[in-house]
This record gives sequence, structure tokens and C-alpha cells, in this order.
Amino acid sequence: MHEKSIELLNLAVADEVTAIHQYMYFHFHCDDQGYDLLATLFKQTAIEEMLHTERLAERILFLKGDVEMRASAEVAKIQGVGEMLKRAREMEEKSILDYNRWANQCSANADSVSKKLFEDLVADEERHYDQYDIELENMDKFGDRYLALQSIERSKSRAAGPPAA
Ligand SMILES: [Fe+2]
Ligand SMILES: [Fe+2]
Repeated sequence: MHEKSIELLNLAVADEVTAIHQYMYFHFHCDDQGYDLLATLFKQTAIEEMLHTERLAERILFLKGDVEMRASAEVAKIQGVGEMLKRAREMEEKSILDYNRWANQCSANADSVSKKLFEDLVADEERHYDQYDIELENMDKFGDRYLALQSIERSKSRAAGPPAA
């Protein structure tokens, strides 16, 4: 009865899994390059995408479907910070468009709970889009100083010594 919803929910799972892989890849490289603030942003966002996957999976199982844990795309091997942020912003933009469309399709198929789930996810993806957009704006505004400030964070936390036990 809800075949179409299950198909759309699984398409969303595939995009969320891709986002988790891509953002963790960005996290590893930001961490390696010493950009702690961005490394944390990518990791936190990957964790939120994992929670999205969980909500989608719960709905699929409720509708008696199964969760296809496939990624919709390979990880892009991008290591420049500006390119990472641009790619991440594009991924969020695509999710916002897709989830809005899929919410409408679920509504047309009389599945209001899946519709609401997609709408909830859109709100989160808009926030993610905004976070990446702000970082890109800061990069434009501050140029090389932006990356310098990112690096200083690590020096500051190292200088502060190990966390108190
Ligand atoms: Fe998501
Ligand atoms: Fe997102």
C-alpha cells in the first residue's frame, strides 16, 4: 500500500549514507590539516545525518519495507577546504529540493507521517546549508586569515594543556 513511500524513504537513506561518508571524509582531512573548527562541524553534521538515517529506517520498517543501506554516490576525494564547503552546500541544497518534493508525493499518496518526516528533515538540511554557507562567506570575507584562524584554534587548545581529569 505504501510502496511509493518506501521507495522514496530508501532514496533518502541512500543520500544520507552518502552524506555521512562524504562529511566524515572531510572531517578526516580537516583534522589532518589542523582545521579543528571545520573538522568538528563536519563530524557533528555527519552524526546528524546518521540520526536522519535512523528515523528514515524506522519509518521504512514500520511500513513493512526493508532498509537498503546503499550509498547514492561515491565519496568525492576533495581536500581543499573551499571546495569541501561548496560540495557540502550543494549536497544540502539537493536534499532540500528532493525532500520537499518527496513530502508532497507522500501527501498525494495519503501518507502524512512520511510527509511530516520529510518536512522535519528539510528543516535540518536548511540549517546545515546555512552553516556551510556562513563558512563560505567567512572564507570570502577573511581570505587566508580564515584558515589561519582555524589553525590557531588547535594551537590554543594544545597550549591550554590536557583536559583536567
Ligand atoms: Fe540529512
Ligand atoms: Fe544535511
